[in-house]
Amino acid sequence: MTGPRDDGNKVAYPAAWVGTTLPLAAFTTSLPPRHPLGALPSPLVPVPALAARLGAHTFLVKRDDLSGPRFGGNKLRALEWLLPTLGDAVVTMGGYGSTWCAALAVTAGEVGAIACPALAPQPWTDTVAGILSTTSAHGQVTLAGSELGMPLALARAWLGARRHGRVSWLPAGGASPLAVLGSANAALEFMNQVEEQGFPRPDAVLVPVGSCGTAAGLLLGLALGGWRTTVIGVRVAAPLFANASRVGRLVRGAERLLRRHGLRARPTLPPFRLVPDQLGAGYGHPTAPGRATQAALAEAGLRVDLTYGAKCCAAAQGVAPSFPHLCFWHTFDARLMSAPATDHPLVARAQRTAEALWPHPKST
Ligand SMILES: Cc1ncc(COP(=O)(O)O)c(C=O)c1O
Repeated sequence: MTGPRDDGNKVAYPAAWVGTTLPLAAFTTSLPPRHPLGALPSPLVPVPALAARLGAHTFLVKRDDLSGPRFGGNKLRALEWLLPTLGDAVVTMGGYGSTWCAALAVTAGEVGAIACPALAPQPWTDTVAGILSTTSAHGQVTLAGSELGMPLALARAWLGARRHGRVSWLPAGGASPLAVLGSANAALEFMNQVEEQGFPRPDAVLVPVGSCGTAAGLLLGLALGGWRTTVIGVRVAAPLFANASRVGRLVRGAERLLRRHGLRARPTLPPFRLVPDQLGAGYGHPTAPGRATQAALAEAGLRVDLTYGAKCCAAAQGVAPSFPHLCFWHTFDARLMSAPATDHPLVARAQRTAEALWPHPKST
Protein backbone atom coordinates (compact mmCIF):
# COMPACT_ATOMS: atom_id res chain seq x y z
CA MET A 1 0.00 0.00 0.00
CA THR A 2 1.37 3.44 -0.86
CA GLY A 3 1.47 6.08 1.85
CA PRO A 4 -0.37 9.39 2.10
CA ARG A 5 0.32 12.07 -0.53
CA ASP A 6 1.93 15.05 1.24
CA ASP A 7 0.81 18.39 -0.16
CA GLY A 8 2.41 21.05 2.07
CA ASN A 9 0.74 20.71 5.44
CA LYS A 10 -2.32 18.93 4.04
CA VAL A 11 -2.25 15.24 3.31
CA ALA A 12 -4.59 13.35 1.01
CA TYR A 13 -5.01 9.70 1.95
CA PRO A 14 -5.44 6.78 -0.45
CA ALA A 15 -8.98 5.47 -0.78
CA ALA A 16 -7.94 2.11 0.73
CA TRP A 17 -7.35 3.73 4.15
CA VAL A 18 -10.64 5.54 4.29
CA GLY A 19 -12.88 2.82 5.65
CA THR A 20 -10.33 0.96 7.77
CA THR A 21 -7.76 2.89 9.76
CA LEU A 22 -8.93 6.37 8.79
CA PRO A 23 -12.72 6.59 8.38
CA LEU A 24 -12.44 10.34 9.12
CA ALA A 25 -10.91 10.81 5.68
CA ALA A 26 -14.29 10.12 4.09
CA PHE A 27 -15.62 13.45 5.41
CA THR A 28 -12.89 15.79 4.18
CA THR A 29 -10.86 16.46 1.06
CA SER A 30 -7.56 16.29 2.96
CA LEU A 31 -6.29 15.97 6.52
CA PRO A 32 -3.30 17.31 8.47
CA PRO A 33 -0.17 15.11 8.46
CA ARG A 34 -0.46 12.01 10.64
CA HIS A 35 2.27 9.75 12.01
CA PRO A 36 0.66 6.29 12.26
CA LEU A 37 1.35 4.55 15.59
CA GLY A 38 -1.72 2.38 16.03
CA ALA A 39 -2.72 -1.16 15.18
CA LEU A 40 -6.23 -0.22 14.18
CA PRO A 41 -9.08 -0.85 14.54
CA SER A 42 -8.78 -1.66 18.26
CA PRO A 43 -11.09 -4.52 19.29
CA LEU A 44 -14.73 -4.04 20.31
CA VAL A 45 -15.90 -6.83 22.62
CA PRO A 46 -19.10 -7.66 24.50
CA VAL A 47 -18.77 -8.52 28.21
CA PRO A 48 -22.02 -10.35 29.07
CA ALA A 49 -20.96 -10.97 32.71
CA LEU A 50 -20.82 -7.23 33.32
CA ALA A 51 -24.09 -6.61 31.49
CA ALA A 52 -25.74 -9.15 33.81
CA ARG A 53 -24.16 -7.61 36.90
CA LEU A 54 -25.37 -4.11 35.92
CA GLY A 55 -28.80 -5.23 34.73
CA ALA A 56 -27.90 -3.80 31.29
CA HIS A 57 -28.97 -5.42 28.01
CA THR A 58 -25.47 -5.18 26.50
CA PHE A 59 -22.13 -4.03 27.85
CA LEU A 60 -19.52 -3.46 25.13
CA VAL A 61 -15.91 -2.54 25.76
CA LYS A 62 -13.96 -0.59 23.16
CA ARG A 63 -10.49 -1.96 23.85
CA ASP A 64 -8.64 1.21 22.99
CA ASP A 65 -6.08 0.12 25.56
CA LEU A 66 -5.00 -2.21 22.72
CA SER A 67 -4.85 0.49 20.05
CA GLY A 68 -1.12 0.10 19.38
CA PRO A 69 1.53 -2.63 19.07
CA ARG A 70 3.99 -1.28 21.70
CA PHE A 71 1.37 0.35 23.90
CA GLY A 72 -2.15 1.60 23.35
CA GLY A 73 -4.69 3.97 24.83
CA ASN A 74 -6.39 7.21 23.96
CA LYS A 75 -3.17 9.25 23.99
CA LEU A 76 -1.71 7.16 21.18
CA ARG A 77 -4.63 8.30 19.01
CA ALA A 78 -3.89 11.94 19.83
CA LEU A 79 -0.15 11.54 19.30
CA GLU A 80 -0.60 10.28 15.75
CA TRP A 81 -1.65 13.85 14.85
CA LEU A 82 0.56 15.76 17.29
CA LEU A 83 3.92 14.14 16.54
CA PRO A 84 4.31 15.77 13.09
CA THR A 85 4.04 19.23 14.73
CA LEU A 86 6.89 18.78 17.22
CA GLY A 87 10.14 20.74 17.31
CA ASP A 88 13.40 19.22 18.56
CA ALA A 89 12.05 19.19 22.11
CA VAL A 90 8.51 19.37 23.48
CA VAL A 91 7.49 20.74 26.86
CA THR A 92 4.28 19.56 28.48
CA MET A 93 2.85 18.90 31.94
CA GLY A 94 0.95 16.32 33.95
CA GLY A 95 0.95 14.37 37.21
CA TYR A 96 3.85 12.10 38.23
CA GLY A 97 1.83 9.18 36.83
CA SER A 98 0.59 10.92 33.67
CA THR A 99 0.07 8.41 30.87
CA TRP A 100 0.02 11.35 28.48
CA CYS A 101 3.58 12.31 29.44
CA ALA A 102 4.75 8.68 29.31
CA ALA A 103 3.21 8.11 25.87
CA LEU A 104 4.72 11.34 24.55
CA ALA A 105 8.14 10.44 25.99
CA VAL A 106 8.05 6.98 24.39
CA THR A 107 6.99 8.19 20.93
CA ALA A 108 8.64 11.63 20.51
CA GLY A 109 11.88 9.96 19.37
CA GLU A 110 10.06 8.63 16.28
CA VAL A 111 10.08 12.18 14.89
CA GLY A 112 13.49 13.06 16.30
CA ALA A 113 12.16 14.98 19.33
CA ILE A 114 12.61 14.62 23.09
CA ALA A 115 9.82 15.10 25.63
CA CYS A 116 10.58 17.45 28.54
CA PRO A 117 7.58 17.18 30.88
CA ALA A 118 7.13 19.08 34.16
CA LEU A 119 5.33 16.78 36.58
CA ALA A 120 3.19 17.58 39.64
CA PRO A 121 2.83 15.24 42.65
CA GLN A 122 -0.06 12.81 42.97
CA PRO A 123 -0.69 9.99 45.49
CA TRP A 124 1.91 7.24 45.13
CA THR A 125 0.80 3.86 43.77
CA ASP A 126 2.55 1.04 41.89
CA THR A 127 0.95 2.36 38.70
CA VAL A 128 2.42 5.83 39.25
CA ALA A 129 5.85 4.27 39.89
CA GLY A 130 5.62 2.21 36.70
CA ILE A 131 4.52 5.10 34.50
CA LEU A 132 7.06 7.55 35.90
CA SER A 133 9.79 4.97 35.31
CA THR A 134 8.78 4.87 31.64
CA THR A 135 8.58 8.66 31.33
CA SER A 136 11.97 9.21 32.91
CA ALA A 137 13.59 6.40 30.88
CA HIS A 138 12.60 8.11 27.60
CA GLY A 139 12.21 11.81 28.42
CA GLN A 140 13.86 14.61 30.35
CA VAL A 141 11.68 14.98 33.44
CA THR A 142 11.44 17.97 35.81
CA LEU A 143 9.66 17.19 39.08
CA ALA A 144 7.68 19.81 40.99
CA GLY A 145 7.53 19.35 44.78
CA SER A 146 3.95 20.63 44.94
CA GLU A 147 1.21 22.01 42.68
CA LEU A 148 2.38 25.51 43.56
CA GLY A 149 5.84 24.62 42.33
CA MET A 150 4.59 23.88 38.79
CA PRO A 151 5.30 27.31 37.22
CA LEU A 152 8.93 27.05 38.31
CA ALA A 153 9.15 23.42 37.17
CA LEU A 154 7.75 24.42 33.77
CA ALA A 155 10.31 27.22 33.45
CA ARG A 156 13.10 24.75 34.28
CA ALA A 157 11.71 22.20 31.83
CA TRP A 158 11.66 24.88 29.12
CA LEU A 159 15.25 25.94 29.78
CA GLY A 160 16.37 22.30 29.68
CA ALA A 161 14.43 21.74 26.44
CA ARG A 162 16.10 24.72 24.73
CA ARG A 163 19.42 22.91 24.86
CA HIS A 164 18.02 20.46 22.26
CA GLY A 165 17.00 23.12 19.70
CA ARG A 166 13.54 24.34 18.69
CA VAL A 167 11.01 23.85 21.49
CA SER A 168 7.29 23.25 21.07
CA TRP A 169 4.60 23.24 23.75
CA LEU A 170 1.71 20.83 24.20
CA PRO A 171 -0.97 21.33 26.87
CA ALA A 172 -1.65 18.83 29.68
CA GLY A 173 -3.20 15.68 28.26
CA GLY A 174 -2.30 16.89 24.75
CA ALA A 175 -5.80 18.36 24.55
CA SER A 176 -5.94 20.46 21.39
CA PRO A 177 -8.27 20.52 18.38
CA LEU A 178 -5.66 18.64 16.34
CA ALA A 179 -5.43 15.85 18.95
CA VAL A 180 -9.22 15.56 18.99
CA LEU A 181 -9.07 14.20 15.43
CA GLY A 182 -7.67 10.98 16.93
CA SER A 183 -10.71 10.20 19.03
CA ALA A 184 -13.13 11.50 16.37
CA ASN A 185 -11.60 8.93 14.04
CA ALA A 186 -11.85 6.31 16.81
CA ALA A 187 -15.57 7.03 17.20
CA LEU A 188 -16.14 6.46 13.47
CA GLU A 189 -14.11 3.26 13.64
CA PHE A 190 -16.28 2.13 16.59
CA MET A 191 -19.51 2.86 14.70
CA ASN A 192 -18.35 0.74 11.78
CA GLN A 193 -17.54 -2.12 14.18
CA VAL A 194 -20.92 -1.95 15.92
CA GLU A 195 -22.64 -2.32 12.54
CA GLU A 196 -20.25 -4.95 11.16
CA GLN A 197 -20.35 -7.08 14.32
CA GLY A 198 -24.14 -6.77 14.56
CA PHE A 199 -24.37 -5.27 18.06
CA PRO A 200 -27.30 -3.08 19.04
CA ARG A 201 -26.35 0.57 18.74
CA PRO A 202 -25.21 1.68 22.23
CA ASP A 203 -27.45 4.18 24.05
CA ALA A 204 -24.40 5.65 25.78
CA VAL A 205 -20.61 5.53 25.75
CA LEU A 206 -18.83 5.95 29.10
CA VAL A 207 -15.44 7.65 28.89
CA PRO A 208 -13.09 9.16 31.50
CA VAL A 209 -12.70 12.95 31.26
CA GLY A 210 -9.34 14.43 32.25
CA SER A 211 -8.21 17.07 29.78
CA CYS A 212 -11.43 16.61 27.71
CA GLY A 213 -9.95 15.72 24.30
CA THR A 214 -11.18 12.13 24.17
CA ALA A 215 -14.79 12.99 25.04
CA ALA A 216 -14.69 15.87 22.54
CA GLY A 217 -13.52 13.57 19.76
CA LEU A 218 -16.15 10.94 20.53
CA LEU A 219 -18.87 13.59 20.33
CA LEU A 220 -17.56 14.91 17.03
CA GLY A 221 -17.09 11.46 15.49
CA LEU A 222 -20.56 10.28 16.54
CA ALA A 223 -22.02 13.51 15.16
CA LEU A 224 -20.25 13.06 11.82
CA GLY A 225 -21.64 9.54 11.58
CA GLY A 226 -25.13 10.80 12.46
CA TRP A 227 -25.56 8.87 15.73
CA ARG A 228 -27.43 10.20 18.78
CA THR A 229 -25.58 7.98 21.28
CA THR A 230 -25.07 9.91 24.54
CA VAL A 231 -21.48 10.47 25.61
CA ILE A 232 -21.22 10.12 29.39
CA GLY A 233 -17.99 11.72 30.50
CA VAL A 234 -16.84 10.73 33.98
CA ARG A 235 -14.75 13.44 35.60
CA VAL A 236 -11.39 12.08 36.79
CA ALA A 237 -9.49 15.39 37.11
CA ALA A 238 -10.16 18.75 38.76
CA PRO A 239 -13.19 20.70 37.45
CA LEU A 240 -10.79 23.42 36.23
CA PHE A 241 -9.50 20.94 33.59
CA ALA A 242 -12.40 18.51 33.22
CA ASN A 243 -15.56 20.43 32.43
CA ALA A 244 -18.30 20.56 29.81
CA SER A 245 -17.34 23.96 28.41
CA ARG A 246 -13.82 22.77 27.67
CA VAL A 247 -15.25 19.70 25.92
CA GLY A 248 -17.42 22.04 23.83
CA ARG A 249 -14.52 24.34 22.95
CA LEU A 250 -12.43 21.40 21.78
CA VAL A 251 -15.27 20.04 19.66
CA ARG A 252 -15.74 23.43 17.99
CA GLY A 253 -12.00 23.85 17.46
CA ALA A 254 -11.70 20.41 15.85
CA GLU A 255 -14.73 21.07 13.65
CA ARG A 256 -13.19 24.37 12.46
CA LEU A 257 -9.96 22.53 11.71
CA LEU A 258 -11.82 19.93 9.65
CA ARG A 259 -13.64 22.69 7.79
CA ARG A 260 -10.27 24.05 6.66
CA HIS A 261 -9.67 20.57 5.25
CA GLY A 262 -12.89 20.49 3.26
CA LEU A 263 -15.52 19.28 5.75
CA ARG A 264 -18.91 20.22 4.30
CA ALA A 265 -21.32 18.49 6.72
CA ARG A 266 -22.84 20.46 9.62
CA PRO A 267 -22.95 17.70 12.24
CA THR A 268 -25.46 17.84 15.12
CA LEU A 269 -23.76 16.79 18.33
CA PRO A 270 -25.27 13.94 20.34
CA PRO A 271 -26.09 14.62 24.02
CA PHE A 272 -23.21 14.98 26.48
CA ARG A 273 -23.56 14.30 30.19
CA LEU A 274 -20.77 14.94 32.72
CA VAL A 275 -20.71 12.72 35.82
CA PRO A 276 -18.94 14.75 38.54
CA ASP A 277 -19.19 12.48 41.56
CA GLN A 278 -16.60 9.72 40.94
CA LEU A 279 -13.57 12.00 41.34
CA GLY A 280 -13.24 11.56 45.12
CA ALA A 281 -10.44 13.61 46.68
CA GLY A 282 -8.98 14.48 43.27
CA TYR A 283 -6.95 13.35 40.27
CA GLY A 284 -5.15 10.10 41.03
CA HIS A 285 -6.77 9.63 44.46
CA PRO A 286 -8.25 6.13 44.60
CA THR A 287 -11.91 5.87 45.61
CA ALA A 288 -13.77 3.04 47.33
CA PRO A 289 -16.27 2.61 44.43
CA GLY A 290 -13.31 2.65 42.03
CA ARG A 291 -11.54 -0.14 43.94
CA ALA A 292 -14.72 -2.23 44.04
CA THR A 293 -15.23 -1.69 40.30
CA GLN A 294 -11.62 -2.60 39.57
CA ALA A 295 -12.13 -5.92 41.39
CA ALA A 296 -15.43 -6.62 39.59
CA LEU A 297 -13.84 -5.93 36.20
CA ALA A 298 -10.87 -8.16 37.05
CA GLU A 299 -13.32 -11.03 37.65
CA ALA A 300 -14.63 -10.40 34.12
CA GLY A 301 -11.06 -10.49 32.77
CA LEU A 302 -10.56 -6.72 32.34
CA ARG A 303 -7.67 -4.85 33.93
CA VAL A 304 -8.36 -1.17 34.66
CA ASP A 305 -6.38 1.43 36.58
CA LEU A 306 -7.70 3.38 39.57
CA THR A 307 -7.17 6.87 38.10
CA TYR A 308 -9.19 6.54 34.88
CA GLY A 309 -10.90 3.26 34.04
CA ALA A 310 -12.10 2.23 37.50
CA LYS A 311 -13.66 5.62 38.28
CA CYS A 312 -15.25 5.74 34.83
CA CYS A 313 -16.77 2.28 35.08
CA ALA A 314 -17.93 2.92 38.64
CA ALA A 315 -20.46 5.29 37.07
CA ALA A 316 -22.00 2.46 35.02
CA GLN A 317 -24.23 1.26 37.87
CA GLY A 318 -25.90 4.66 38.13
CA VAL A 319 -26.56 5.09 34.41
CA ALA A 320 -27.45 1.52 33.34
CA PRO A 321 -31.20 1.87 34.15
CA SER A 322 -31.51 4.80 31.70
CA PHE A 323 -29.06 3.45 29.08
CA PRO A 324 -29.55 -0.33 28.75
CA HIS A 325 -27.08 -0.70 25.87
CA LEU A 326 -23.79 0.60 27.27
CA CYS A 327 -20.24 0.84 26.02
CA PHE A 328 -17.16 1.52 28.15
CA TRP A 329 -14.27 3.24 26.37
CA HIS A 330 -11.17 1.53 27.80
CA THR A 331 -8.28 4.03 27.59
CA PHE A 332 -5.50 2.85 29.90
CA ASP A 333 -2.86 0.37 28.78
CA ALA A 334 -0.73 -1.23 31.49
CA ARG A 335 2.03 -1.82 28.90
CA LEU A 336 3.01 1.82 29.44
CA MET A 337 4.31 0.86 32.86
CA SER A 338 7.82 -0.47 32.45
CA ALA A 339 9.17 -2.42 35.44
CA PRO A 340 9.07 0.21 38.22
CA ALA A 341 12.58 1.57 38.76
CA THR A 342 12.19 2.78 42.34
CA ASP A 343 15.97 2.70 42.70
CA HIS A 344 16.22 5.40 40.00
CA PRO A 345 17.06 8.64 41.89
CA LEU A 346 14.27 10.63 40.18
CA VAL A 347 11.62 7.97 40.82
CA ALA A 348 12.78 7.58 44.43
CA ARG A 349 12.60 11.36 44.93
CA ALA A 350 9.09 11.46 43.46
CA GLN A 351 8.03 8.68 45.82
CA ARG A 352 9.40 10.52 48.86
CA THR A 353 7.63 13.73 47.82
CA ALA A 354 4.30 12.01 47.16
CA GLU A 355 4.43 9.97 50.37
CA ALA A 356 5.28 13.07 52.40
CA LEU A 357 2.20 14.80 50.97
CA TRP A 358 -0.12 11.75 51.21
CA PRO A 359 1.41 9.37 53.81
CA HIS A 360 -1.50 6.93 53.80
CA PRO A 361 -3.31 7.04 50.45
CA LYS A 362 -6.89 6.35 51.41
CA SER A 363 -9.86 5.48 49.29
CA THR A 364 -12.43 8.23 49.46
C1 LIG B 1 -5.45 6.49 30.36
C2 LIG B 1 -6.25 7.73 30.24
N1 LIG B 1 -7.58 7.63 30.13
C3 LIG B 1 -8.36 8.73 30.03
C4 LIG B 1 -7.82 9.98 30.07
C5 LIG B 1 -8.72 11.16 29.95
O1 LIG B 1 -8.73 11.57 28.61
P1 LIG B 1 -8.73 13.10 28.24
O2 LIG B 1 -7.50 13.70 28.85
O3 LIG B 1 -8.70 13.12 26.77
O4 LIG B 1 -9.96 13.68 28.83
C6 LIG B 1 -6.43 10.15 30.19
C7 LIG B 1 -5.84 11.48 30.27
O5 LIG B 1 -4.69 11.69 30.56
C8 LIG B 1 -5.64 8.98 30.25
O6 LIG B 1 -4.29 9.06 30.34
